Amino acid sequence: MKLSLPSNSRMLTKDFTYGVATASFQIEGGIDKRQACIWDTFCAQPGTIADGSDGSVACDHYHRWANDINLIADIGVDAYRLSLAWGRVLNEDGTANREGIDFYRQLLSALKDKNIKTFVTLYHWDLPQHLEDNGGWLNRQTAYEFRNYADIASRELGDLVDSWATLNEPFCSSYLGYEVGVHAPGKSSQADGRQAAHHLLLAHGLAMQVLHSNCPASMNGIVLNFTPGFPATDNSDDIKATAYANDYFNWWYSRPIFEGKYPDIIDDFAADIKPDIAPGDMAIINTPIDFLGVNFYTRAVYKAHPTDIFEELEPTNAPVTDMGWEIYPEAFTALLQELHNRYQLPPIYITENGAAVRDELSHAQVHDLDRIHYYQDHLNAVHCAIESGVNVQGYFAWSLMDNFEWALGYTKRFGLVYVDYETQTRYLKDSGVAYSALIKSRV
Ligand code: NOJ
Repeated sequence: MKLSLPSNSRMLTKDFTYGVATASFQIEGGIDKRQACIWDTFCAQPGTIADGSDGSVACDHYHRWANDINLIADIGVDAYRLSLAWGRVLNEDGTANREGIDFYRQLLSALKDKNIKTFVTLYHWDLPQHLEDNGGWLNRQTAYEFRNYADIASRELGDLVDSWATLNEPFCSSYLGYEVGVHAPGKSSQADGRQAAHHLLLAHGLAMQVLHSNCPASMNGIVLNFTPGFPATDNSDDIKATAYANDYFNWWYSRPIFEGKYPDIIDDFAADIKPDIAPGDMAIINTPIDFLGVNFYTRAVYKAHPTDIFEELEPTNAPVTDMGWEIYPEAFTALLQELHNRYQLPPIYITENGAAVRDELSHAQVHDLDRIHYYQDHLNAVHCAIESGVNVQGYFAWSLMDNFEWALGYTKRFGLVYVDYETQTRYLKDSGVAYSALIKSRV
């Protein structure tokens, strides 16, 4: 099956950027050449990762990167989104780690040689463990450590980077990591979750200022994930509960960046849940960004709950991916339109979108028709948003290749490329063929 878009679509011109995305911990391995991070520690705790695995080898990209870049080039993308491992770029004392920097310089140079634009994320969740030992994102100092990391990374690598993103999905780092504890570092209190979110946003703002000054020519911003909430019924209680959930999970991260304030629900938080916010923090977080990265996978459905304000309903009778996430592309269009209506936005790049599918490798092929359908519907959803006036400039598929899916280990496959973890052989799936054909068909 082919991927198609209406023939007049802006997404069929070469002005629109297509890419594939990955993240350091999920693909690199090569752990002897970097500091330990919170995910190494988390994986070592029994019961945290579905298949008991870790990131020590992953896709062995640390050793196979040259080959992987050939794959990326063969697909024909305009851009590659990757993240740097903080603990590879820096030593524990906060100085530059030459070997780590050389690794990324080689990799980024190889991409430049192939005319592939580099979209680099500074933080895709692999906080050096020694910083966690000092409180991690609960410690305000971590935001300043991040500023130092952004400064060194951008000075050392800036000439090879087209676009910097400070953080990937601060919702996941703070909520999943510190509020419900299903991600590293596995802390679970509401107060911790909200405080971690504030320090992450502060870190973002501080790093933005550094990036603007060190790399004024690159496009600098942040990547946020959104899971738009829809009310289960038209009942006003469900609508109110849904608005609360959207403030709590989605706008919590975007509003401070675009408006310098948290959603109003913060006023009703008990004193011990309200994060400590120092004078001036919100202005730092509100530093202008050059682009907004949007990650979208699914929506959520909420109804009112007598004690917990809202309750999320599991999808029933709805199509889902192998993650159990509902396939609901209309929410993607609606989200982009809502972002456009709510804020004065810079250009949007879709920095992640994709589906986990139960892939089967047979005769070196993977016929992942469900994934192709997912891409077809979601690319069209982006097209519809653009038609209605939203400024979307690019789209990155998650992911280039199957990789370590966090708490689910290697049990879920998101790649356009199948990875046989026994042999580390890569096979382009049918979805990769279709994505490649779409990209190459542009005029
Ligand atoms: C978002 C994250 O950025 C990425 O690391 C993860 O693998 C995908 N979503 C799929 O869950």
